[in-house]
Amino acid sequence: MKYIARTQQDHSALSRHASENLDAFWDDYARTNFKWHKEWDKVSDCNLQEGKIKWFEGAKLNITENCIDRHCGELGDQIAMIWEPNDATRFAHTLTYNQLLKRVCMAANMLKAMGVKKGDRVCLYLPMIPELLFAMLACARIGAVHTVVFAGFSAQALADRINDAQCKLLITADGGFRGNKIIPLKNIADEALAQCASVEKTIVVRSAKTEINWVEKRDHWWHTLFYVQEDECEATVMDAEDPLFILYTSGSTGKPKGMVHTCGGYMVYTQYSFMNVFQYQPDEVHWCTADIGWITGHSYIVYGPLIAGATTVMYEGVPNCPTQDRFWHIIDKHKVNIFYTSPTAIRTLAQCKEDMIEKHDLSSLRVLGTVGEPINEEAWQWYHQYIGKGNCPIVDTWWQTETGGILISNLADVTPAIPCFATLPLPGIAPVIVDANGEEITALETEGHLCIAQPWPSMARTIYNDHQRFIDTYYAPYPGKYFTGDGAKRDEKGNYRITGRVDDVVIVSGHNLGTAELENCINHHPDVVESAVVGYPHAIKGNAICAYVCLRNGVQVDEKEFCETIRNWVSEKLSPIAKPAMVVVAPDLPKTRSGKIMRRILRKIAEGDTSNIGDTSTLLNPDCVALLKQKMGGERGLSA
Ligand code: WT7
Repeated sequence: MKYIARTQQDHSALSRHASENLDAFWDDYARTNFKWHKEWDKVSDCNLQEGKIKWFEGAKLNITENCIDRHCGELGDQIAMIWEPNDATRFAHTLTYNQLLKRVCMAANMLKAMGVKKGDRVCLYLPMIPELLFAMLACARIGAVHTVVFAGFSAQALADRINDAQCKLLITADGGFRGNKIIPLKNIADEALAQCASVEKTIVVRSAKTEINWVEKRDHWWHTLFYVQEDECEATVMDAEDPLFILYTSGSTGKPKGMVHTCGGYMVYTQYSFMNVFQYQPDEVHWCTADIGWITGHSYIVYGPLIAGATTVMYEGVPNCPTQDRFWHIIDKHKVNIFYTSPTAIRTLAQCKEDMIEKHDLSSLRVLGTVGEPINEEAWQWYHQYIGKGNCPIVDTWWQTETGGILISNLADVTPAIPCFATLPLPGIAPVIVDANGEEITALETEGHLCIAQPWPSMARTIYNDHQRFIDTYYAPYPGKYFTGDGAKRDEKGNYRITGRVDDVVIVSGHNLGTAELENCINHHPDVVESAVVGYPHAIKGNAICAYVCLRNGVQVDEKEFCETIRNWVSEKLSPIAKPAMVVVAPDLPKTRSGKIMRRILRKIAEGDTSNIGDTSTLLNPDCVALLKQKMGGERGLSA
């Protein structure tokens, strides 16, 4: 494992090696760590101007042989997956690598029996149950392209994705648990399928045991098809550049983008980043709390850990059910070593009373991780102190659906963690900061738009059916570079701090204010649990700041007075330039299902343009939009 950095010196040496000869670096890494049926003719063939990206062309492989078969010798009896059900009174379910192979082969044979062929798209609209894992890997086994749609999305969102990908088969469940609620997935799918001509058949997992509607000939029960299948299925040999999956991500405008990832490069990079960032050790238990409906789940619940031969935890439920300490309970129960979650989850869980944490033994934890948005310092410190007990490194991992794997992060206990900084790129990754004119800034200490100047194996290859949009979005803004859409600061040592989406930057009186930085400051106030900052047009300053502030549980305030307090707090702690013109005490913030605050909606509300808010149906909490609108009616008088 010579490409896994174990010391800071290794990290520098590997980074140097990669920058001197990128192809030699990946050639060597790919050759020594994976099972290939045939090696590549060319390591990479990329032209970022044209959005042309190819890795390991000519190579033949099947990713599931690397995820499972390869471990079935020596690691065959090791646990591949621990499934923790929503219902805390039920037993967890574990599967060894040998058992997982059989399940995946049975599911693969089931897909074949249903007429699925290499290259066909299969939509998976499933809760976090083991069948989701089997179905994904079964698709990969036979060369079908999976497109997982998060099981919290509406019928319309599901239909849009199925139609865009022209899926032939849909796999869903009767229902899925969300805390104590049951989401009627099959009924939602029925509504979606009314608009989807491409879907010929559905397979339905009986999971929540709810009443469902049944369409004869089209619908089939998973259990009647699955259990009669043979438990061996030869893996279809794929080209490295054959698509592995499509995963949709919402753009700032327009319809969702179907990001296409391919077999070879994705395999190489998810394992590489998993090993390096988390410093996975044999026999460790890895738990990523994301839903598999997002890229985080694809790369760090399924592919990365399995390729590495790890034990991966899959949890069906939500963080606070039946009680606020469910996560800590699970860590204790399964002796989790690596725990990977989001800042939103951390902020929510930080409200948990101390004794609720202390009653669980968290001493198995070795590494903590965060991903998804900039983490504010207060949440970082809480995570470090209360969960890591001051001695677990926190890896702040920056990446995107488009990047396939983690690009910028400290490596656990190898390179230093710095609160709120993703820190250094992984060896082989070449971030650059560009200025408003698109010029690369070479001075170390600087700030601007974050681009990546060199290709890496797990980059998205295209937007499904829309290569022009792919080029326009990622490669046209700064020709020759991949544009991330994020802003970043770089310190004098080359550490990166992600400041948030560039579209979230607010320019007030000519000053660039990162919303993340402002929120960080506001969140430091003892009465505040979370906040969201947006800009809205202002006649004189160009833009003014509006801060939506959520109070900590149980805190009572005089709202008018409290708003003044927050304005002065920001003015003192950050800068008078950053002083919010408007402060709103918010009962809740509108969030996407992946926990991202929908600033677009908050911006509209702040502008007073509430007629034109757009689709809120995919939000986690659509109700809060109406509440905020109502509230702002009276509140605008407070603005300065
Ligand atoms: C955007 C990508 C792939 C991770 C899950 C989200 C933000 C992600 C960090 C981090 C600051 C982060 C960026 C990025 N982001 N990780 N560690 N620090 N910001 O994937 O939905 O494709 O979102 O999430 O703004 O562009 P995604």
